[in-house]
Amino acid sequence: MDNFTYCTPTKYIFGHGAENHTAEELLSISATRVMVVYGGGSVLRSGLLARVLLQLDDAGIYHCELGGVQPNPTDPKVREGIEICRREQIDTLLAVGGGSVIDTAKAIAAGVPYDGDFWDFWAGKATVQSALPLGVVLTIPAAGSEGSGNSVITLLDGMHKISLRTDFWLRPKFALLNPELTFTLPPEQTAAGIADMMAHIFERYFSPTADVEVTDRVAEGLLMAIMEEAPKVMSNPTDYQARANIMWSGTLAHNGICGTGRREDWVSHFMEHEISAVYGVTHGAGLAVMLPAFMSFMAHVAPAKGAQLARRVMGVTDEPDDTAAALEGIRRLKDFFTSLGLPVTFNQLGIDKPNIPLLVQKLHENKGERIGGYFTLTPADTEQIYRLAL
Ligand code: NZQ
Ligand code: ZN
Repeated sequence: MDNFTYCTPTKYIFGHGAENHTAEELLSISATRVMVVYGGGSVLRSGLLARVLLQLDDAGIYHCELGGVQPNPTDPKVREGIEICRREQIDTLLAVGGGSVIDTAKAIAAGVPYDGDFWDFWAGKATVQSALPLGVVLTIPAAGSEGSGNSVITLLDGMHKISLRTDFWLRPKFALLNPELTFTLPPEQTAAGIADMMAHIFERYFSPTADVEVTDRVAEGLLMAIMEEAPKVMSNPTDYQARANIMWSGTLAHNGICGTGRREDWVSHFMEHEISAVYGVTHGAGLAVMLPAFMSFMAHVAPAKGAQLARRVMGVTDEPDDTAAALEGIRRLKDFFTSLGLPVTFNQLGIDKPNIPLLVQKLHENKGERIGGYFTLTPADTEQIYRLAL
């Protein structure tokens, strides 16, 4: 196990009525002027936004709004938010929504106190040294942004989708998680969220670090629980207990706990980010396509971890050979994704003829010539992985 520092300063309030603590939590972090960020309309239709704003009014907290954040959020909305925050002298951000809304709010939080262009942080030209505080009311378990220090934004000029990772500054001060708020999710978003949280665990599970039995077992336990609860939420979207288990899994998958003491991978995410940047697909659906492709490549060049996953999580008991066991585990994973209605090929994702040379070029432009924590990959390797998803 490697040395590590682990700090998750986010306060979580979980369960029935969690969102009713919004004003109280904002006051506890001394918020006086708040910008409420939300998406394309689900929180208007459900009445959640109105209920949150009423709390702020009752508590005497000044607020303005920034709505219309789209999935796979882009830089113009961030710039608009930064301008409003400066004009309105906003001191705190409140994200009401999913990963796209939270990530936009995080980017605004980092951009407001910074003199230069906020994209400098995503381009690696500057490091975040301060940010406005941020609270979250979560409506979809998927990206795990409510507990991560990351923000994923696409720069429209060149369609560069980049994940900025910070240890401290972009972690929410509080996150309010009520599973009932996820009852209204369309099935394809529920399923995509499940693929995304599983991917966040796989990215840490596929690690070259030895002697990490505790975090391996945490990851395996989470994966098994998610796979058990997933069919329940798909067949009964208002099953509170199943929704609750899936919601908390989404946070635990990405708040860092599964990555402690080990090197992480992240190739599947990097490769998917290029797909969602170029083709605008749902992140989790893109991952359901890329994960089996990535694992299939690994089954031949570095099968140990895939074989362990197959034996411990996917129930593969009768394959003594690691490559064969890993491949059988991947077949079962694909079956699982398919059972949730997820795509497992480019074609099923709605992309008939993906421009693979473009995806490979952008991937290595954004992430470097060689990528991968588990196994180092060249552009020829990543091209092969994209082709395995055809
Ligand atoms: O925009 P609205 O109308 O709210 O609709 C959203 C959106 O269309 C809808 N939705 C959300 N909650 C709902 C609901 N519809 C009905 N009822 C509800 N309760 O779901 C759609 C997807 O929302 P989005 O926020 O895009 O989903 P998600 O949480 O999956 O976020 C995806 C984004 O997060 C990034 C992804 O790349 C993508 O851009 N990621 C962020 C990470 C991070 N910050 O740590 C890590 C992840 O790996 C990921 O890359
Ligand atoms: Zn993800």
